[in-house]
Amino acid sequence: MLQISSKTQKRAVLVIFPKNNLNALPFFDLEEKRSIQQMLNDGSKIIPVNKLHKLYILFAMDVPKDIDKYELQEKFRIQGHSIYKVCKEYKETELSLEIMGEYDKSMLESLLLGINLSDYEFLKYRTKAKEYHLTVHVDPILLDKSSVEEINLLTESVHITKDLVNEPVSYLTAVQYSKDMAKIAKSAGFSLTVWDHKKIVQEKMGGLLAVNSGSSAPATFNILEYKPAKHKNKKPLVLVGKGVVYDTGGLSLKPTKSSMDMMKSDMAGSAAVVGAMYAIAKAKLPYHIVGLIPAVENRPGYEAVCPGDVITMYDGTTVEVMNTDAEGRLILADALHYAKRLKPELVLDFATLTGSAVRAIGREASVIMGTADKEYKKKLRKAAMSTGERTVEFPFWDEYGDYLRSDVADLKNLGPMDAGSITAGKFLEHFIDYPWMHFDIAGTAFVPAQYNYRGKWATGYGVRLLFKFVQNQCKDNPEKSKS
Ligand code: BES
Ligand code: ZN
Ligand code: ZN
Repeated sequence: MLQISSKTQKRAVLVIFPKNNLNALPFFDLEEKRSIQQMLNDGSKIIPVNKLHKLYILFAMDVPKDIDKYELQEKFRIQGHSIYKVCKEYKETELSLEIMGEYDKSMLESLLLGINLSDYEFLKYRTKAKEYHLTVHVDPILLDKSSVEEINLLTESVHITKDLVNEPVSYLTAVQYSKDMAKIAKSAGFSLTVWDHKKIVQEKMGGLLAVNSGSSAPATFNILEYKPAKHKNKKPLVLVGKGVVYDTGGLSLKPTKSSMDMMKSDMAGSAAVVGAMYAIAKAKLPYHIVGLIPAVENRPGYEAVCPGDVITMYDGTTVEVMNTDAEGRLILADALHYAKRLKPELVLDFATLTGSAVRAIGREASVIMGTADKEYKKKLRKAAMSTGERTVEFPFWDEYGDYLRSDVADLKNLGPMDAGSITAGKFLEHFIDYPWMHFDIAGTAFVPAQYNYRGKWATGYGVRLLFKFVQNQCKDNPEKSKS
């Protein structure tokens, strides 16, 4: 984490200097500067120099004018990760900061965020592993207190999301998930209402019940609400998250190995909603937000839904279930139907929904689509690009909707092999009557191996994007409403 402390000098010092001004480095003699220059010429940007009682980590800050600002910020976050790795390699737990010459504040923030986000490991079940953490001491002269606090808050929130996603289902059942949400809600200052199995049956949430029917553990439906006294939006922003605590595929069982191994992460969309609401509430952003999280387990138990069954959804639509592994859309549809009563300004759903999204663009961006107007799409894109949580919008023509026609029921839950992430989105569209965007985060939410500052396993995708979007909305929205 970052700590605000003035005039602290630790053994390890991150020295940031302008790339073309080595003279700014006071700690080195001429010969040393020559070697440093050579390394810079060879393309190194981060140069560790272990000198008697000091470890200098030299970082040449280069801010070319012709590069897109957001792309550059992403590069700085990645370089932050490289700096973190040097500290870890040298077992340094404290790092102080020296900046020589001029620097760009937003690039410094990106660098520090990259360092901070890297400081995560999921060690809960490693009985012998030793924790390592890095504290970076930042002089308030270099960066305002509020920036430092925001970086720490975002990091903490991303880590909350990562912890939830990394938890195996042996711990994180739907009921346990609701208990964890309650703790998080309490500490951040938003409310949580949990619908248990009995209430879900009473309400006739047919999608949720169908998906959970093969599991011996009960499902929950979670309603999170953050409504500060003064908020800038007249109608709430609703965030919906897929909360499949484990996806075996159900009776349409996934093959073991590769395709099932990581399916504890099938609740990553909902965990992003939890992490984002934590950050937004802690930062006291003046925005009214409701989170909706259907939490279920998709298993092939005795009572499991069979391929060919017809189910009746929360809104009364009948669905022919052709493949029980296309379960995410069934639970999201019920949550999207619930959202209608909130008369939202905008609904965003986050879901590890399709392998098709991963095959199309891999882990580098999420696939998005929806009915929100151009203005919202522009704002969402800005939040995505500025945080490095990239998105690519897919086409959403009406024709794709025809792929889901069923002769037996109103809809089927499975389209043809082609355009799988789009037909999944089209299924969801059937259940909305408000501006909406769908984020398929199957490729971005969980990675099997280290992926720069995002780490390995859960990446916490979505938390920073949502925080940034809401923060920008608060800045852009002049009118205030009270209720
Ligand atoms: N949870 C999976 C999607 C997924 C795949 C997430 C890979 C993360 C990584 C989803 O429930 C699923 O099984 N989707 C099927 C849908 C198909 C049966 C139409 C898929 O994408 O293969
Ligand atoms: Zn599935
Ligand atoms: Zn799934």
